Amino acid sequence: MSKDVRVIANWKMHKTIDEAIDFVQGLRGLIQLTYIAMPSTILYAVSQKKPPMVTLGAQNIYFESQGPFTGEVSAEMVKDAGAEFVILGHSERRMIFHEDNSLIHKKIKHALHAGLQVILCVGETLSEREAKTTADVLKKQVLECLLELTDEELSQITLAYEPIWAIGSGSPATAQMAQETHAMLRALISEQWGAQIAENLYIIYGGSTKPNNVQELVEQKDIDGVLVGAASLDIDTFMQIIQNAGKINS
Ligand code: PGA
Repeated sequence: MSKDVRVIANWKMHKTIDEAIDFVQGLRGLIQLTYIAMPSTILYAVSQKKPPMVTLGAQNIYFESQGPFTGEVSAEMVKDAGAEFVILGHSERRMIFHEDNSLIHKKIKHALHAGLQVILCVGETLSEREAKTTADVLKKQVLECLLELTDEELSQITLAYEPIWAIGSGSPATAQMAQETHAMLRALISEQWGAQIAENLYIIYGGSTKPNNVQELVEQKDIDGVLVGAASLDIDTFMQIIQNAGKINS
């Protein structure tokens, strides 16, 4: 089965309502689905003005629907505001906000239960790669975060391989290095959930994706798309990424 390349923007803590509406209206001519994860504060306003090919997502949720959890938002709340997916397990949440695999697992279960798709991020540090422990680190993250998920639940997951040393560094993984890691992740999913689920699963790459490296990345057999941080903030740069990623489909 050949898949359409999936391009997902991760805006992190950027953009006001007006800036975001300007941006998505600039994507009006798009003919392929494009995903943007944005701050929850702007989701609703953007959802009222976005073109149909743009799908909105959140960047975090808590694992309860409501209650005394000051400062948190629930899956139901971001969905109500227009989100169709949520990014979970991003390395910034793991490192700055001390989220571990067990917390991420609870968030994944809750997000799926509420009807959100999930982009699960996994990735190793530079010292883990240098110590040749990348496979072990990723295996632990994947198996603990996706613990006992059903086949049906797995179909709502996109796995994002984001080597931490490549995020925001300007030094992406080479296409070959990313492909090797993606192949390893797909083999791991196949072992646990079977070959068909592994084949259908989107495994996307993130970390310093730019217009000039996206095509080579998505040409790799096991790289089904990209999760784009810094380069998704400027509309012209992001459009170039979408176009260059799309070349492989044509
Ligand atoms: P970057 O971020 O493209 O700025 O490296 C990617 C991410 O953190 O998802």
